[in-house]
Amino acid sequence: AGATLVLDPAFSVGPVRRRTFGAFVEHLGRCVYTGIHDPGHPTADEDGFRGDVIDLTRELGVSTVRYPGGNFVSGYRWEDGIGPVDRRPARLDLAWHSTEPNTVGVDEFMRWAKKAGVEPMMAVNLGTRGVQEALDLLEYCNIASGTAWSDLRRANGTEDPHGVRMWCLGNEMDGPWQIGHKTAEEYGRLATETARAMRMVDPGLELVACGSSSTSMPTFGEWERIVLTEAYEVVDLISAHAYYWEEDGDLASFLASAVNMDRFIDDVVATADAVRAARKLDKRIHISFDEWNVWYLNASPSQAPKDDWPVAPPLLEDHYSVADAVVVGGLLIALLRHTDRVHSASLAQLVNVIAPIMTEPGGRVWRQTTFHPFALTSRHAAGQVLRVKLDSPTHETARFGETPLVDAVATHDADSGEVVVFAVNRHTTEPVTVEVDVRAFGALGVTEALTLSSDDPYARASADDDTSRSSPLEWCTGSA
Ligand code: AHR
Repeated sequence: AGATLVLDPAFSVGPVRRRTFGAFVEHLGRCVYTGIHDPGHPTADEDGFRGDVIDLTRELGVSTVRYPGGNFVSGYRWEDGIGPVDRRPARLDLAWHSTEPNTVGVDEFMRWAKKAGVEPMMAVNLGTRGVQEALDLLEYCNIASGTAWSDLRRANGTEDPHGVRMWCLGNEMDGPWQIGHKTAEEYGRLATETARAMRMVDPGLELVACGSSSTSMPTFGEWERIVLTEAYEVVDLISAHAYYWEEDGDLASFLASAVNMDRFIDDVVATADAVRAARKLDKRIHISFDEWNVWYLNASPSQAPKDDWPVAPPLLEDHYSVADAVVVGGLLIALLRHTDRVHSASLAQLVNVIAPIMTEPGGRVWRQTTFHPFALTSRHAAGQVLRVKLDSPTHETARFGETPLVDAVATHDADSGEVVVFAVNRHTTEPVTVEVDVRAFGALGVTEALTLSSDDPYARASADDDTSRSSPLEWCTGSA
């Protein structure tokens, strides 16, 4: 038996948010250098940005881009990356055991963001630094003129303020690997004071407090409760980070990774709402799922050799399969169905580092398998996200127990009348039929049906062949 899906335009979870389709550019490996920035490349523009990467960023349908880290930001001095490039210092990047040349800094990134048509989302360093440095960066970025930092930005060639709305208050401060790692109490205080001061500059900023680095952190849950109890009034969002990979050949559990993401979101929402009740406040805190992806943590080097401090070494260059693309599709479905509480998300990362876009230094650019579900979902999700009634056959998975084979969500755009169904088949070998009941919409015709599939779940794309493997789906009923 197949799965059935009942859709009704009355059952909306909330709007499709463009910010669900964010990504992430960190000073890590080849993400910045030879990723977005490669001055010797034939498509490079006057600022050294690769035109082919900008084109694919647009094709991917990316909305926001988080910058400059990640673990990198917790040791970063943003002032190193401004002014004449030949006078910028090279620094040790302790997070990735690399040398940071500071050729690209905040002004260059903002120029790139404009060219790529994305909204920048900045992170401040709350590892080795604090309130003052965050305020300085905010002043440099967002004040028009007439102050030391804003006039320095203008002197450095950027007349208009960058106007950054979304700011992350540090990165993964719950993780013992983080430079300047803190307890929840310590971080809660620092995040609160930083947010309070940043709001004195501009009350309209959207501020993200660090949540947990994964559900498996020993502090998960308590971290959110303690941080939000302290920071509730001065932040808007709390972050969530999650990476998934196939463990010990258990493909069935891996394909069902969204079960973990669903639960992660539900648990953070419950914790935030519990703080709201205890503090007797009206406002709700939303989630910024600002790092999510498939990442085979130990498959490719995550640090340069200890006796070396290279510039832009190849790190975290995972090579994705069709199964990985199914998981990415499933995770996008989970993010969309929580659109009432997930107000922002970032695929980590954009180029070369656990990324949908890969480059050869000075050479070709290509799309990984995971590019396609992201691009298709970003392109087609519009209007309202619908709460679907899904009846699916189930199977047993080692990690999540009995799990539905099919997972799905739908969107409905009242203006165009378009209904779009996003679905994944989590069976490891067999196809599955899905019947979609759209009677509640009246007369609808089928415009297009695409599937991303392969007989070999481990098939991978390459620079020689990055075709989408999307083929028209066999359509049973034709119209409704
Ligand atoms: O995205 C790679 C790394 O994963 C980020 O730097 C860090 O925040 C997370 O642990």
